[in-house]
Amino acid sequence: MLSQAQSSELVRRLTPDARITVLTGAGISAASGVPTFRGADGLWKNFKPETLATPQAFARDPKLVWEWYDWRRQMIATCEPNAGHHVLASWSRRFPNFRLITQNVDGLHESASAKATARQASPGVIRLHGSIWEVMCWRRCAASPPRWRDDTVPYPQIPPRCPHCGDLIRPGVVWFGEALDPEIVDRAEAAADCDVFITIGTSAIVYPAAGFIDVARRRGAYTVEINPESTPAVVNLALRGGAETILPAIDAQLL
Ligand code: OAD
Repeated sequence: MLSQAQSSELVRRLTPDARITVLTGAGISAASGVPTFRGADGLWKNFKPETLATPQAFARDPKLVWEWYDWRRQMIATCEPNAGHHVLASWSRRFPNFRLITQNVDGLHESASAKATARQASPGVIRLHGSIWEVMCWRRCAASPPRWRDDTVPYPQIPPRCPHCGDLIRPGVVWFGEALDPEIVDRAEAAADCDVFITIGTSAIVYPAAGFIDVARRRGAYTVEINPESTPAVVNLALRGGAETILPAIDAQLL
């Protein structure tokens, strides 16, 4: 349980005019039932990224890749945002200078936002790794938009086809070996210029996301980590525990 002494410095800094930036990873969705990537039951313990999450894997076996994404989409579709997502959604309304960067593709931050309808993309969330609820034409055909929402669960036919050209579609996520959208990286870098930077539920080893913690610290932010385990992140304050309990405890201390 979080003691007031542990979090008092953070709470003191969460003022109405503070520029607050939060970076989330898979751990924030763990209490919702979404598996993380690393750790005991992590996805990368049971599946090989190179056979499922690279453009080469898709080119080799699109059916296998889509079976895995279709399974994940079915699983995530049954998950609800937890207390951690809800606190962050309330902070995005409470603090005018609040920004949220996520590595997650599950859409649970958007679901938690009262303004957005379920799983809809919210402009407030900086999504570094895309969305599992978006797809793209594999051939980038001229008739299709760069990406579009597709909530079909499960797909009646795998691999699913582009409604515009009939070729394959692919998940709208960033795969290993692919570049992140430079505009989104720029937005995240700008968000790292803040007064308080809180990293939540990430192993802090995948870049560029992990690098934003250092950027924020170098620019003078007070840095905080919320995670039951220690990570390589260098922070001013480490709060050890689940986001679903720590965030509501901090929220309860705000005046
Ligand atoms: P990881 O699976 O690497 O790390 C999850 C972190 O969440 C670990 O540090 C856990 O200790 C922590 N954790 C577990 N339960 C928690 C809880 N209840 N509350 C808070 N923290 C908890 O996930 P990410 O760091 O998000 O990339 O992984 C980064 C990227 O690597 C992912 O976006 C994905 C993956 O490969 C792509 O797919 C491109």
